[in-house]
Amino acid sequence: MKKIEAIIRHEKLQEVQDVLDECGVSGLTVTEVKGCGAQRGYTESYRGTKVNISLRPRLKIEAVVRAEIVDKVVDKIAEAARTGEVGDGKIFVIDIEQAVRIRTGERGPETIQHAERSMWGH
Ligand SMILES: Nc1ncnc2c1ncn2[C@@H]1O[C@H](COP(=O)(O)OP(=O)(O)OP(=O)(O)O)[C@@H](O)[C@H]1O
Ligand SMILES: [Mg+2]
Repeated sequence: MKKIEAIIRHEKLQEVQDVLDECGVSGLTVTEVKGCGAQRGYTESYRGTKVNISLRPRLKIEAVVRAEIVDKVVDKIAEAARTGEVGDGKIFVIDIEQAVRIRTGERGPETIQHAERSMWGH
């Protein structure tokens, strides 16, 4: 299992959720975050005062998926979250050792997938 951690623009959430749904990924965690990328520390003068363009609000999407589909899901998220402008975000992939469904005690990759499209947001 792998965890996909994607930092995206707020307005791209629905499209990214749709991708995850298409790929059979049933669970995700969304967190409001602030961050910066390559343009960190960039300063601009505004009416004689230097303004630091530093931490921008973004959403962090965390989704644990089966290792076999991680490359496909990452490609689809990148496609869905792209505007082509700087600040589109980043995607990280992390190894996950175990997943447990608390209600039943089930363990493993079966706990992170759903059988049918859930049609969320539709
Ligand atoms: N190395 C990193 N580690 C953790 N988070 C990062 C990293 N790089 C970017 N982020 C997160 O992703 C958000 C968007 O990054 P951003 O898209 O600006 O990356 P970039 O490398 O500057 O690419 P671009 O040049 O297209 O802007 C940041 O606000 C930050 O939250
Ligand atoms: Mg940037």
